[in-house]
Parts: sequence; C-alpha cells; structure tokens
Amino acid sequence: MFQEPAIHELTIFTKPYPSAKHPHHNSMAFKNLTKTHSEEPYMSNQVDQLPVNQANHLEIGGVDSLDLVKQYKTPLVVYDVKAIRDQIHHFQKVFNDNGVDYAVSYASKAFACIAMFQLVNQENAHIDVVSGGELYTAIQAGFPMDHVSFHGNDKSVAELEMAVDHQIGVIILDNFHEIALLKQILTDKDAHINVMLRVTPGISAHTHEYDQTGQVDSKFGFDLQSGQARKALDLVLADKRMNMLGIHCHIGSQIFEVKGFEMAATKLIDTLGQWHQEVGYVAKVVNVGGGFGIRYTEEDDPIAPEMFVDAIVKAIKKRVGELSLPMPAVWIEPGRSIAGPAGYNLYTVGSRKDVPGIRSYVTVDGGMGDNIRPALYQAKYEAVLASNPKAPIKETVRVAGKYCESGDILIQKQDLPATKPGDVLAMLATGAYGYAMASNYNRNPRPAVVFVENGQSQVVIKRETFADLVSLDQPLR
Ligand SMILES: Cc1ncc(COP(=O)(O)O)c(C=O)c1O
Repeated sequence: MFQEPAIHELTIFTKPYPSAKHPHHNSMAFKNLTKTHSEEPYMSNQVDQLPVNQANHLEIGGVDSLDLVKQYKTPLVVYDVKAIRDQIHHFQKVFNDNGVDYAVSYASKAFACIAMFQLVNQENAHIDVVSGGELYTAIQAGFPMDHVSFHGNDKSVAELEMAVDHQIGVIILDNFHEIALLKQILTDKDAHINVMLRVTPGISAHTHEYDQTGQVDSKFGFDLQSGQARKALDLVLADKRMNMLGIHCHIGSQIFEVKGFEMAATKLIDTLGQWHQEVGYVAKVVNVGGGFGIRYTEEDDPIAPEMFVDAIVKAIKKRVGELSLPMPAVWIEPGRSIAGPAGYNLYTVGSRKDVPGIRSYVTVDGGMGDNIRPALYQAKYEAVLASNPKAPIKETVRVAGKYCESGDILIQKQDLPATKPGDVLAMLATGAYGYAMASNYNRNPRPAVVFVENGQSQVVIKRETFADLVSLDQPLR
C-alpha cells in the first residue's frame, strides 16, 4: 500500500489579520465606505512616525517631498538612503554583539540598480543575485565580485559561465542539472569556484501562497528528507573544482515569528552534524536566507528585523555547541527589510469617481506598472497626503491606478483627508519588489528613482521616455 512519506513540516503563520486597533478596519466601515468622516486625526503608528517639516509636508531624507515632485515629477520612487544604511548597520551590530563571523547579503531582487549596489558596498554588505542581469548590474557598479552569491533554480550555461569568469563569491547550487552544468564549465575552463547547497528544510512560513519557498514541495533547492541533499553533497565533494562552502535555506517572506527561523537554523546544523559524522564534512558557512517581515500598514506589527538574526545566531550557537561542531559563519539575505521601509512612491491625484452608496475611487498617475504587488499578491499599503500626512481624516476611498485593468487598485481602503486633482499621495514602504517588478504595461514609461540623504537628492534611475519605449522596436518589413 502506498504510504505518505513522513514529512515533518512546520507551518508558521504570520499576521495577515486585520487589527482592531484601527476604527476604520471593521465591517461597518467597509459597508459605509462613502460615509464622510468627522474630522478624525490619523490613527496609524506608521503615519505618526513620518517626518514632516515646518510646513507640515512629508519630508524624505531631509527634503520636502513636494519639492522632489516639483523637481522630478510623478510617479516617482524615492529612497531614504539613511534608512537603508541604518538597517544594514542594525543587522551588523547584532552579529558583532554575538561575536560571530557573518555576512549581511542584500537580496538584490528587492531593488537593484548600480547606485543601490554601490550603497550596499559602502556599508560592507554582500549581495545575492538571481540572474545574469543582476550580476551584470553589480559588475557595472564595481561591486566586489567575491561578495556576490548567485541564486536561482534555472541558471543558464551563460549565467554560470559569467559567474565563473568573474570568480564571484559563491554559486548557491539549486538542483542536479546545475551541478552537472557547473562541473562541465569548470572542467572546460580549468577553473574553481565556491559553492553552497540550497536545501529545503521542510519549514515554510506564509503570508501568501506565492511567498512559499522553504517547504518540501518547492521548486527550489535539494530536499533533505528524501536524501537528495546528501546525494548533492557527495557530487560536490567528489569534484575538486568545487569548494563546498556550506548550506543554505530560505523559508519564506514577510515572516513575523522567530520560531520558524530558529527551527530551520537548528535543522541546518543537525544536517551538518550528520554530514560531519558520515563523511567528515565541516561547513564554513550557514546561510539562513531572508524573509524578515516589515510594516506595510498598521495591521502589521513586526519585531525589528535584527531581532530575527539575534534568535537565529543564538539557536545556531546552541546546536553547534550541543553537537561539538566548529561554529560556522552565519549569513543572512534580507531584501525586503533593507529596501522596503526606505521606499516611497509619490503619485499625483487625477480623476475621481463617486459610486453612490458604494465607494469613491481616487485615481493616481501610476499603478500596477510601478507596483504590481497589490494586484499580484493583494498586498496592502498605506498612503498619505504628502502636503499634510497627519491631516484629519475626511473619508475612506479606494486608491486606483491609471492602468487599463479593473484589478489595478493600489489600496482597497484608504483613510484620507479631502483630496483634489494635483494633490500628491505618498505610498509608504514601497521600496521592495515595487520598482524591481515594474513593467511598461500599456506602454507607460517606468518612473524615475531618486535617492535622498542629508537634504540632497539624486536620480539613480532616469525616468523612461516614450523614445525609450520604442527603442527596441523594429519596423515591419
Ligand atoms: C533565496 C532568497 N533569499 C533572500 C530572499 C529575500 O527575501 P526578503 O526580501 O523577504 O527578505 C529571497 C526572496 O524571495 C530568496 O528567495
């Protein structure tokens, strides 16, 4: 009789549930969306903490957001550079306080461009890339290649050759096909490279189905349970051109609980203990991936991202001690927690539609082309009126994008003061997986990206032009 294999999979749930903290997020408010609010102060903690200047305007990196709009137009993606530096420092401090070797490897899929890589390098962090394009951007940025990790479940021959030619820090091997390709490339080029094995520890963490990558039934990595990972280890150890640096897992994204990370880290050390006993393998690095949750709306109540790291390091130290293994370096790969909170999308309000008795739509000059997360994942965000983020609330509206899709809604329910065409809305915490997933849908040009720090701003990605949009087009012959 067929028997289900014994899979001990732990599922950790984050907090996707509405909080009772906000009076407008109850079902009555949902039914009465067009109801006019008496003048209520803004309730969100996130909004309370936003810096405003003397004119009450939202300030980003010491610059008035309305001045940024005047200078660079909308839609505009703005990063507070100090927030990025600070988050990297917070991670580094926890490692230093715990006295362990480490690498903070920014998961560049969250937001990659030349300036971002240069900024990350200024802070002595590593990066991980998942494509030839991200690697090429890092090369153009002058990023130290020995601080680059290469991920992906279908790296092409060209991408693997590029990684070997540039002697990147480590290729994180994902499957047997890749091991075979790399073996051939190393032989042909008479080269060596560091590798790690990505494994699925059977622990997943959820906010949304599409965010699951750590569980057994995953397209990523070698399964521990069935012995795939051990088989991969044997293949790598047998190839003297591959230097087996260590083991990697990534259990999911936008995670709010430390438990899953502690269990995954312990599982990785148990695996290393087993490999040590069986074949004498000693790992130099344990990489626990990213996934540390951030606050998008006041419904999210995350702990500081660095607190995850503290728990992970302590769990690893404990297990390593119990198994009398040498302490490996601990690597993390935060993407969202570094880029997310630092980002703001600025939009200009355009048209408005009031559907009597149902709701009001306020449309802005961007949408799913610059941030597809709400349409793709039902991701929630919060927006404020840039000219006065703490102005009393007048109404709850649906913030719609300008793209020709009914699903192009940026925020389903947003409390706002009265708005009029020309006002600027600032969507908060948009720095991760926003511009990175931007498209030219409807042949809209992608927005400019601006870095702001110490009262100074600079364009780091130019706004696309209509000419850019047709630059790859070829006329019909
Ligand atoms: C292997 C790996 N590392 C790191 C990350 C970054 O995750 P996050 O942005 O949630 O920190 C991801 C995200 O998908 C990933 O797949």
